[in-house]
Amino acid sequence: MKRNRILLIIGSLVICLSTTGYAGTKALMEKLCTKCHGLENPFSLKKNRADWEAIVALMASRSKDINTEDQSKIVDFLSEVRNIDTPILTAKDENNLTEIERIHIPVINAPISVKANSKAKIQVQVSEVGHPMTPDHYIYAVDLYVDGLWMDMVELQPKQSANVEFEVSVHKTSTIEVIVHSTVDGHWAAKTIIETAPE
Ligand code: HEC
Repeated sequence: MKRNRILLIIGSLVICLSTTGYAGTKALMEKLCTKCHGLENPFSLKKNRADWEAIVALMASRSKDINTEDQSKIVDFLSEVRNIDTPILTAKDENNLTEIERIHIPVINAPISVKANSKAKIQVQVSEVGHPMTPDHYIYAVDLYVDGLWMDMVELQPKQSANVEFEVSVHKTSTIEVIVHSTVDGHWAAKTIIETAPE
């Protein structure tokens, strides 16, 4: 009896830990939403919470696989990573970062120039000095945009390395933008340009 109770407590703790924050929500969306369309549908938009609630409820009305618990998890996530009212912060002076900027502004390591219509590897170091990756304060997602269009998002978990790598097709000289999302300090962006040389 006592043993069962201890197991129950451990079980609830595991559930509690695994459902805090946004961890796993993009993966959940990949499972539930991509039956009908790509994730660029939600990730290319910016809305307030009420609008996200309405959109996700509409999608759930079309698919019995999307239960109310998943709906609220997805609404919480989208209201945070794609909120029209939330500022995306950038460095005020790239050559002279403030303390908070040094912890949050992503460092993009990309080729200066590639051949037109080739692939380029983009390495992202989450910040100049590294960002905490503890369960209550970590970078939970890194977004990649090319010329303003959403391309990809990598989800991260606490204790994981916060450095990620993307691969993009570069057709013409393009602006690459990376946005990192912190559980505590908001959303931070940096940009770089990849030029194209003739094929
Ligand atoms: C059963 C099929 C289906 C599923 C599952 C589905 N969608 Fe959709 N979704 C659609 C269709 C069809 C459209 C385009 C028509 C429309 O806008 O209603 C759409 C459009 C959208 C749009 C664009 C709406 C706009 O106003 O431009 C968003 C955002 C979206 N879906 C989000 C989601 C999310 C998030 C999920 C997963 C939780 C999801 N969808 C799951 C069928 C689905």
